Amino acid sequence: MQMRHSDVIVVGSGMAGLVAALSLAPLSVTLLTKTDDLPGGSSNWAQGGIAAAIDPADDPAEHAADTVAAGAGLTDPEMASLLTQEGAKRLTRWINRGLPFDREANGRLCLGREAAHGAARVLHAGGDATGRTLMADLSARVRAADHIKVEPGTFAWDLVTGRQGVVGLLAHHAAEGWVFHRAGAVLLACGGVGQLYRHTTNPAEATGDGIALAARAGADLADLEFVQFHPTALAGSRTGQVPLLTEALRGAGAHLLDEHGGRFMVKAHPLAELAPRDVVAKAIGARIAGGLPVYLDLRSLWAQGGAGKFPTVAGICANAKLDPARMPIPVAPAAHYHMGGVVTDADGRTSIQGLYAAGEVACTGVHGANRLASNSLLEALVFAERAADAILASTPARPGPVGLPAIPDGFTPTAQAALVAVQAADIMAESVGLLRDGIGLSCAIAELEALQAGLEPQTGIDDATAIRLSGEVRNRLLVSLLIARSALNRQESRGAHQRSDWPDSRPEWRQRQRVTLSGPAPRIRVAPPRSPLPVM
Ligand code: SIN
Repeated sequence: MQMRHSDVIVVGSGMAGLVAALSLAPLSVTLLTKTDDLPGGSSNWAQGGIAAAIDPADDPAEHAADTVAAGAGLTDPEMASLLTQEGAKRLTRWINRGLPFDREANGRLCLGREAAHGAARVLHAGGDATGRTLMADLSARVRAADHIKVEPGTFAWDLVTGRQGVVGLLAHHAAEGWVFHRAGAVLLACGGVGQLYRHTTNPAEATGDGIALAARAGADLADLEFVQFHPTALAGSRTGQVPLLTEALRGAGAHLLDEHGGRFMVKAHPLAELAPRDVVAKAIGARIAGGLPVYLDLRSLWAQGGAGKFPTVAGICANAKLDPARMPIPVAPAAHYHMGGVVTDADGRTSIQGLYAAGEVACTGVHGANRLASNSLLEALVFAERAADAILASTPARPGPVGLPAIPDGFTPTAQAALVAVQAADIMAESVGLLRDGIGLSCAIAELEALQAGLEPQTGIDDATAIRLSGEVRNRLLVSLLIARSALNRQESRGAHQRSDWPDSRPEWRQRQRVTLSGPAPRIRVAPPRSPLPVM
């Protein structure tokens, strides 16, 4: 096995990974990504944009208040204020460095409105191609940076820890086989968990790898039960990644219609289509579960030139042979964003010395039980930079001598890994999705455990794709179980966690739930923290 050294290893090539890697200069950074090229992860697929109170008429304190209100009692108000205050400043710095955003004819930045925001404060790029535009720019900067070595086609198998905390990571490289990457610090930026569900807006790589890596190393995790479903993905029979119809459409005036063409959200919430995302997703999900279709009506928006403002959505509809100018578009909720993850402080530090996390994989406490739209790219940017600053300040020491980690002695054959991934996603969608109950969650846990016990690793597999799929299924099952157990334990409904057997929020549950995995066999300790959150 080869061994390589760098000052810092960054795992993941979404917004958090790229921003962190760029911000770590002059330290030597190895950026591992399992995708074949930059960028990877969900950031690239973001349509709506990035929220920040940069308009002089806006106020970061109001953005923080909206963030706290959306979080259904679990957002950490100090983190929300840090996000919005620093977010406006840090984003302005990136804009001044040339990060491209859409502007009005007079040069002012275009600001869109999205659900549960009290002001128009969502910046976008390329219309609704925000993620693609920003990530292309950041990827070019990373490729040109002398201090960063990008290792594509590389699957991070396990963190390696010693007495002094994390000392590196065992990875499988498509081109070179197993490599032990040693470093003084490892930053996880591996994104979310959308692919654990049957339908998701996330790309194929969002299989919960970062949470699984951190969990097996013994790091503290939190808020795992809170999985946000986007209300308006394109409905259809396709599974896996499904196209998103951005919330910005509703911000620009698109309406949700029932089977009779009625605006059912008007009766459901005072903000109608712009109600918090969990409320809209629940209302749509309940109709679909009852066999009723739901549509997004873009006709009047398209009559006013909407296709030019939303080229990605126009392309999605054209591919599906749907004409938004003439007919409402069928929509359904899809798994979109994980509020939970690896617990970090305000500087990305986890509970393990030398291990940092940023972006969706991290749980800073900013999102609480329900993330406010377009806050995730901002969170990735702010906390990736803060983590990089903390690593730079700590001048990570080269770790002392440690033995080589053992190469795994067997892998799940590809056919079984693929089948189990589908079975697990079906279980998650049926019983750990938008609406849950205790019996369904208990059954889901038993079924997921049976899938885990039924994996039959075999020796002699050395193909990179097979090793990646085997690693992903190991991660999927572990993280699915952690989510299901956390959801079973939380006996209430709050934000994105809705239980039909506990339909109300309960004051005693107004606290975050921590999870740690002790020992190699999954003995999961799910426990609320000692002290509840400060009351606002
Ligand atoms: C969207 O464009 O609707 C997604 C924005 C987000 O999830 O923040």
